[in-house]
Amino acid sequence: MIDLRSDTVTKPTAAMRRAMAEAEVGDDVYGEDPTVRKLEERVAEMLGKQASLFLPSGTMGNTIGIKLHTRHGEEVVCDHRAHILDWEMSMMAWFSGCLARPVPTVDGVLRWADIEPVVRPRGTGFPAPTAAANIEHPHNMGGGTLFPIEGIEEICDRAHERGLKVHMDGARLFNAVAASGVSAARIVAKTDTAMFCLSKGLGAPVGSMLAGDAATMAEARLYRKRLGGGMRQAGILAAAGLVALEASPRHLPEDHSNARLMAERIGLDPAKIPTNIVIFDIAKTGLTPADFLARLKADGILASSVGGTRIRLVTHYDVSRADCVKAADVIATLLA
Ligand SMILES: Cc1ncc(COP(=O)(O)O)c(C=O)c1O
Repeated sequence: MIDLRSDTVTKPTAAMRRAMAEAEVGDDVYGEDPTVRKLEERVAEMLGKQASLFLPSGTMGNTIGIKLHTRHGEEVVCDHRAHILDWEMSMMAWFSGCLARPVPTVDGVLRWADIEPVVRPRGTGFPAPTAAANIEHPHNMGGGTLFPIEGIEEICDRAHERGLKVHMDGARLFNAVAASGVSAARIVAKTDTAMFCLSKGLGAPVGSMLAGDAATMAEARLYRKRLGGGMRQAGILAAAGLVALEASPRHLPEDHSNARLMAERIGLDPAKIPTNIVIFDIAKTGLTPADFLARLKADGILASSVGGTRIRLVTHYDVSRADCVKAADVIATLLA
């Protein structure tokens, strides 16, 4: 099977498995796992933040990020297709007691001008006050799209002036780094918290990181425990994360080039595919998404349906260029 459903399907490399087998471990709930500590220190250093926290998933990272910046009854501004809004089982409401204030965008990329009109002050007695803004960079449902760095900085600066915090859902942060040439540290510099996943294009089997200042991360540790994310000998997993961080980013440009190649072969503009996600519409085929996916599967290709008549392909290191050519040609035939 050529599995293009998501970059989460990547299997750990031989080097990751070796590191896992040999990892020094301890009880991380007591703060005694040396490999987890090493990973958390390494990530803090790479992101230029005071501290970071190893978590089981990106969803938990976003959940904690929002919780840290809000109180019950407040609002979080995000774009209308944000992962935190559509794909995280309403954790913003369920755990933090907050409303999402979605702002329409073309491709998920927010500007301060989109956010400002929906910011509500605290203490007026009518609207729910706005506590935070969420930036998803790259944007999953937007098609791996990127915010310009100046846009991120402007959102953070203006949000802070208005007393809002900014959380970055950077699940694929290193894809953004590879595609834009802007360092991870600069991308997250002005955010209050930033999350990224080790388990997507970086290829680690499990894990995400949340970074911020030391006091905020100390509080985040308590929320992680509340959510059942206190993992014991988690160094086994962190060891794979350390390998992923060092070895995987250099391969991401190849995933991006494969995504552009597929886009071109199925008749999309490759210039609009900045990272590893290709989303296309099948309305004109008259097929339902389930039928379209079943036909692909019969040809050995897995893709996913992402709402309406939209289908998503995600490239990663477990699909080769030849796999991508084959998949794109089957899709092009179906679309024609
Ligand atoms: C943009 C974005 N944020 C957060 C997540 C959540 O990550 P996880 O699946 O590890 O909970 C994903 C997962 O696909 C994602 O694409």
